[in-house]
Amino acid sequence: MLPQWIIERKREGNELSADEIRFFIEGFTEGSIPDYQMSALAMAICFQGMTPAETAALTTEMMLSGETIDPASLPGIKADKHSTGGIGDKTSLILAPLAAACGLTVPMISGRGLGITGGTLDKLESIPGYRTNLSEKEFFQTLENVGCSIIGQTAQLAPADKKLYALRDVTGTVPSIPLITASIMSKKLAEGLDTLVLDVKWGKGAFMKTREEARQLAQAMVDVGRAMDKKVRALITDMNQPLGRAAGNVLEVQECIEVLRGGGPDDLRELTVALTAHMLELSNVHKTNAEIFQCLENGTAMKKFEEMVAAQGGSTDWKFAAAKIQEPVLAPADGIVTTVDADLIGKACLVLGAGRQKTDDTIDHAVGIGQMKKPGEEVKKGDSLAVIFSNDRNCFDESLPMVGNAFELGDHFEPQPLVCEVVG
Ligand code: URA
Repeated sequence: MLPQWIIERKREGNELSADEIRFFIEGFTEGSIPDYQMSALAMAICFQGMTPAETAALTTEMMLSGETIDPASLPGIKADKHSTGGIGDKTSLILAPLAAACGLTVPMISGRGLGITGGTLDKLESIPGYRTNLSEKEFFQTLENVGCSIIGQTAQLAPADKKLYALRDVTGTVPSIPLITASIMSKKLAEGLDTLVLDVKWGKGAFMKTREEARQLAQAMVDVGRAMDKKVRALITDMNQPLGRAAGNVLEVQECIEVLRGGGPDDLRELTVALTAHMLELSNVHKTNAEIFQCLENGTAMKKFEEMVAAQGGSTDWKFAAAKIQEPVLAPADGIVTTVDADLIGKACLVLGAGRQKTDDTIDHAVGIGQMKKPGEEVKKGDSLAVIFSNDRNCFDESLPMVGNAFELGDHFEPQPLVCEVVG
């Protein structure tokens, strides 16, 4: 077998066998297949696509390219959630302790943000002392004692994905459903899960701009889960507006604590509870939505969060770095908020330094946009639409028109469903 034969077969639209895919991914991981041949195959996959069987084989090989976790020794059903990401999406920080409070074991391995506000790890690292780099022993101990743990991806977990993603980023081969599916699912299934719920977002602030694209990705990921004998379900959710009222690392952690104390924005509560409910149902743990809400209201989920943070070295006095500049963006007229453009809010967060444009950029945890008005809320001219948190006057000045333009005012608002569809 030669790599170029496989590239040619995919270029002509043939279905690759599991052996061909294994040969290619093993060779790429160990270095005998060079980057240029992997890039050529990735581009051929972009144009020709892959069948469900090929996508499952690619996912399996990428998962097996490194170490996998075997949490079979841990008690309970091992369940997790993955989101394709969006502006203000902070559900993981609430969901992991909430699902643990409901009886699941949640071994969550998360990523950092790129091109948008920080990822789950960046948010958690705004808690002083929180360690995302636990050893496997510490990870298992936290899972056993608390029921949930959120850590970062180690270099040994799905290394083929790490290498391939870096190549895709610079060769125009990121937007391919089979490549995205294999990338996400190889990392998640390496956690040794029993069940997985996916939050596939579509809209202005999401990776997938249309609902149809999100549906295709959701179906491809559910198919891979099924082929690998895992219970996987996907929710297709709206990411045209930011989730919650805050975007930016510290601001998002503070909002999660509000929800874990029984308050917080309705959309964030609703989505987190919906995702948790699907995780529980897939895992055959029977709880009504009211019982799940109860775990937020009676403090049991917050207790799990505090235990997890403490077990991972974080401070639980909830004192955070504060931005030097905290100034409102004012409504230019009376009206009802009809839209908050998630894309513009995300871009403003990047300008402020809340996210990174390159993998080695550093993040300012204290900055972002907070206290955002939500669609449907009424404002008077001069009321605050949002507060910009910044540590730099120039960045503040640059973000100000972006945040202002993100808000549209009108006289009528038609609410849209947050959870649009369930796949699987
Ligand atoms: N997230 C991933 O982990 N991989 C992709 O390919 C796209 C988004």
